[in-house]
Amino acid sequence: MSGHKCIVTGGAGFIGSHVVDLLIELGHDVVILDNLSTGRTSNLNPKATLHRVDIRDLDTIRPHFKGCRWVFHAAAWPRIQPSFDDPVTHEQINVVGTVNCLLAARDAGVGRFIYFGSSAVYGTPDEIPTTENAGIHCYNPYALHKYSGEQYCLILGRHWGVPAVSLRMFNVYGPRSYNFGQPNSAYSPVIGIFHHLNKQRQPLTITGTGGQSRDFVHVRDVAHAFVATAESGISWDVFNVGCGTSHSINEIARRISDQIVYIAERPNEAAITHADIGKIKRLVGWEPKITLDKGLDMLE
Ligand SMILES: NC(=O)c1ccc[n+]([C@@H]2O[C@H](COP(=O)([O-])OP(=O)(O)OC[C@H]3O[C@@H](n4cnc5c(N)ncnc54)[C@H](O)[C@@H]3O)[C@@H](O)[C@H]2O)c1
Repeated sequence: MSGHKCIVTGGAGFIGSHVVDLLIELGHDVVILDNLSTGRTSNLNPKATLHRVDIRDLDTIRPHFKGCRWVFHAAAWPRIQPSFDDPVTHEQINVVGTVNCLLAARDAGVGRFIYFGSSAVYGTPDEIPTTENAGIHCYNPYALHKYSGEQYCLILGRHWGVPAVSLRMFNVYGPRSYNFGQPNSAYSPVIGIFHHLNKQRQPLTITGTGGQSRDFVHVRDVAHAFVATAESGISWDVFNVGCGTSHSINEIARRISDQIVYIAERPNEAAITHADIGKIKRLVGWEPKITLDKGLDMLE
C-alpha cells in the first residue's frame, strides 16, 4: 500500500502522538501541526515532520494542508478547570482553531477530517451505558468547546463537502498521559497522575469520595479507532470511543497503591462515564483490545 499524506494537529501531545506513531507504522507520511503549548518534543516521532504553528492563525496553517488525504484534529487545550479560568483563550483554541482547520481542509480538498471529540459533552449522562443519542449536558467551558467544535465539523463539513467524523473519547490513559512540566498538569488524566505519584512514592490523592467512576480506554486502542474511522467510508457522524465498562476512582487507586488520601471534590465534573460502544463496533468495525488490567500493567 502506498501511504497517504496525513496531518495530525496536536501530534506532539498525548493522544495525537500515538495516532502519529500508528500512522507511521502503517506506512503513511505524517505532518504534525503543533505549537508545543502542552505537547512535548519527546513525544515526537522522528519520522514525522513538525511545523510549529498555531491553529488560531489560518494563514500559517493553510499551506500545510495541500495534498493531504486525512486530517486528525487533536490540537486543543483539553483541561476542564483551566477552561473556567481563561475561557476566551480556550474558546479561541478549541473552537476557532477547529474552524480554521476545517477551512484549510476544505480548501485542500482533504478526503477525511477526524475530530477529537469528548464524552465530556454528556455531563452526568441520562443513560448508562451512554449512547451517542444521549442528552448533551455541558457542565464546563471545555465540554461546551468540544461540542461546538464537533458541531462545526458536522455542519460546515456537510455544507462544504468535507467528510468529517467526531470520535467522542471517554477517559484515555496510557504512556505520555502525564506531563508534569506543564502548568495544567494538575488536571491530567487520573491514571497518569496516580502512576506518577506512585513512582515518586507519594500517596495517591482522590478528589471527593472516589465513588465517581470512569470508562477508561487505552491510548493504543484509541489510535486504532482513529485509523479505522479514516479508512471507513463514514462521514458526518459521531461515535463513542471507550471500553464499555466503568471503574470507580477508588478501585483504580487501590490497584496502584494502598497509600491514598482524599481531598476536596472538584465541582462541575461528571459522576459517572460509561460508553455504549455498539455503534462504532457495528459501523466502523473497531473494538478495544486492551483490558484495564493489561493496560495498567503496561504503564511505564
Ligand atoms: N485525554 C483524554 O482523555 C481526552 C478525552 C477526550 C477528548 N480528548 C481530546 O483529545 C485531544 C488531545 O488531548 P490530549 O489529552 O492528547 O492533550 P494534549 O494536551 O497532550 O495534546 C494537545 C496538543 O495540542 C497542541 N496545541 C494546543 N493548542 C494549540 C494551538 N493553538 N496550535 C497548535 N497546537 C496546539 C499542544 O501543544 C498538544 O501537543 C484534545 O482535543 C482533547 O480535547 C482527550
